[in-house]
Amino acid sequence: MNVSYERCAGAELFTAGGRRMLDFLSGYCVYNAGHNHPAIIAAVKEELDRSGPTMLQSHVPHLAAELAQRLAQLAGGRLSRVFFTSSGSEGVETAIKFARAHTRRDGMLYANHAFHGLTCGALSLMSDEYWREGFGELLPGTQGVPFGDLDALKTVLATKRFAAFVVEPVQAEAGIQVPDAEYLRQAQELCRRYGSLFVLDEVQTGMFRTGRFLAAHHFGLDPDMVVVAKALSGGLVPVGAVLMSEAVSDSVFKSLKRAFVHASTFGENSLAMRAGLATLDVLEHQRLGERATRMGEILRKQLRDALAPFEMIEEVRGLGLLNGISFGAPRQVRLRVPWEAFRHVHPAMFGQVIVMRLFRDFGILTQICGNSFGVLKAAPPLLVSEEQIAEFVAAVRQVVEIAHRPGEFWSEALGMARRAAIG
Ligand SMILES: Cc1ncc(COP(=O)(O)O)c(C=O)c1O
Repeated sequence: MNVSYERCAGAELFTAGGRRMLDFLSGYCVYNAGHNHPAIIAAVKEELDRSGPTMLQSHVPHLAAELAQRLAQLAGGRLSRVFFTSSGSEGVETAIKFARAHTRRDGMLYANHAFHGLTCGALSLMSDEYWREGFGELLPGTQGVPFGDLDALKTVLATKRFAAFVVEPVQAEAGIQVPDAEYLRQAQELCRRYGSLFVLDEVQTGMFRTGRFLAAHHFGLDPDMVVVAKALSGGLVPVGAVLMSEAVSDSVFKSLKRAFVHASTFGENSLAMRAGLATLDVLEHQRLGERATRMGEILRKQLRDALAPFEMIEEVRGLGLLNGISFGAPRQVRLRVPWEAFRHVHPAMFGQVIVMRLFRDFGILTQICGNSFGVLKAAPPLLVSEEQIAEFVAAVRQVVEIAHRPGEFWSEALGMARRAAIG
């Protein structure tokens, strides 16, 4: 992936070497509105030209109020207050503090294999050792439960030690895990029963990625807090937001004396707010949520049809334009031997060779999931066209076909791995 890009527009990236690449990763769900949308760029430029108070900290930030109102209206339910951050991780940190303040409990519950960010608090809500190792003691009182397991959730919540259950409505890095329709509703109900807050991390799933403004809307949920970030910036100015109920917000900012106990210098900066407002305009006016639903269905159907003959394909799954292609071990001995050799080098090697082939031979940018190496992502900008979907599907089919033949796919990669080990 060592190429330099000269220009990025919509779902396409143009390299200095004259190649045109198709983006099916979207910066891990940043580019819902596509790369460098002209309307978002114009809004940010206009804001710069205005020479207004960008981060004065001592004024009434009108743009922040406007964006907060738009977000609250789109989210609905009890989510009437907004705290702005500069990243998803900072949003999760905020949710941890607010949940603790509201419930006066310290414990935090999360779903195993989640990805919530790499600051200390957010990292404390992630089970995978890869991310935690080497960084010492993290937050005490945190505990993971299997995603989708209501019995486990009930047992732990019933101890009444937990301030909140933080969960991605569709687990992204865990391998695009779409839960059973009832799971999240019941989880919310259990949280209410045992006095814990129900907090959704919609950093990847929010902003129409799954077809609705929030993935919560597919499941009829009414969470106490929701964290969004990534796509809210339009890919231009970092921004995150924690949407919450009035009760939760009031438990932190409950008096004039405590009006500043939680704050962030860059949080409400006017460039980020302007980018966020312009991004919402684009997503809504271009009806990119409806498009995500329609294109997601087309993408999954085409992938399922094209990949049906191949034994290493376990499943194509997803919601809207957050999709994954899950690979499993081959049965044929002639493929099993190199598969095991790959696994021996690194558990992510098979997926990375697929990614490398798609990139190098077909001009497609994507990645495998961070906590589930056997799942390839298919998450293009929401304005992706049917032609671009067909191009992606044809490329994936060809790479999968090559991987099902003993020979070049495997030998080239093992050669590379050997050279890397020697080097
Ligand atoms: C679901 C989820 N939550 C939180 C984060 C952290 O966001 P950030 O990288 O903006 O801190 C990420 C980042 O990938 C994410 O995927």
